[in-house]
Amino acid sequence: MDPVRYISNRSSGKMGYTIAEAALDAGHDVVLISGPVNLAPPRNTKFISVSTSDEMFEAVHRHARESDICVLCAAVADYKPAKVSPAKIKKRGDRMSLELVTTCDILESLGQQRDRPFLLVGFAAETDQIEKNAWEKLRRKNCDIIVANDARIGMESDENELLILFRNGETKRLSRAPKTFLSRELVKIFLKFATKTFDKKNVMITERT
Ligand code: CTP
Repeated sequence: MDPVRYISNRSSGKMGYTIAEAALDAGHDVVLISGPVNLAPPRNTKFISVSTSDEMFEAVHRHARESDICVLCAAVADYKPAKVSPAKIKKRGDRMSLELVTTCDILESLGQQRDRPFLLVGFAAETDQIEKNAWEKLRRKNCDIIVANDARIGMESDENELLILFRNGETKRLSRAPKTFLSRELVKIFLKFATKTFDKKNVMITERT
């Protein structure tokens, strides 16, 4: 908003960091693009630190096409201030309103790429109608997989409970467990689905709807 204030949310970033770590442990090369969180990046990742949704958009697009699997689980802000004040905004009167404008949807922008050579995985943080909203997100953002979770369980916590939706209509539940365990399961699941979806030259072998 100004040199001393910003808009953020309660997401800790733990899910993304544990997925990066699980992928590294499984022997993969990992690019971790992260907003400001209180976590140390795992060693051996190519680590890219960003502060804004625009910077994240740019970094993700720079690296997506060299990747086999893109996992987008950052809790990117949906809105940003319409103007960033160069000076600290002073207190004036009893009320203040802030004009916000939508940010670019990074996941949706990757989903719009025709013939993308990577598996696209999004997350959905919901508080109600989790499965219905997550299916709607999978279709709207044209992902291959959506990992849905109840935002009240996963936020700021070391544990989560996941519902995984696949574009072919299949679903899989992972019951409540530490994020480190769930991340190892997710990496296996993503790889298995990627193998089914792409041939050795990274050409899609299943029909995308
Ligand atoms: N996402 C993104 N860019 C944004 C907003 C969200 O890439 N500007 C991605 C998230 O990283 C996640 C997915 O979209 O993989 C769903 O994010 P979520 O916050 O659950 O949904 P929204 O699209 O923001 O919809 P809503 O807030 O209405 O539930």
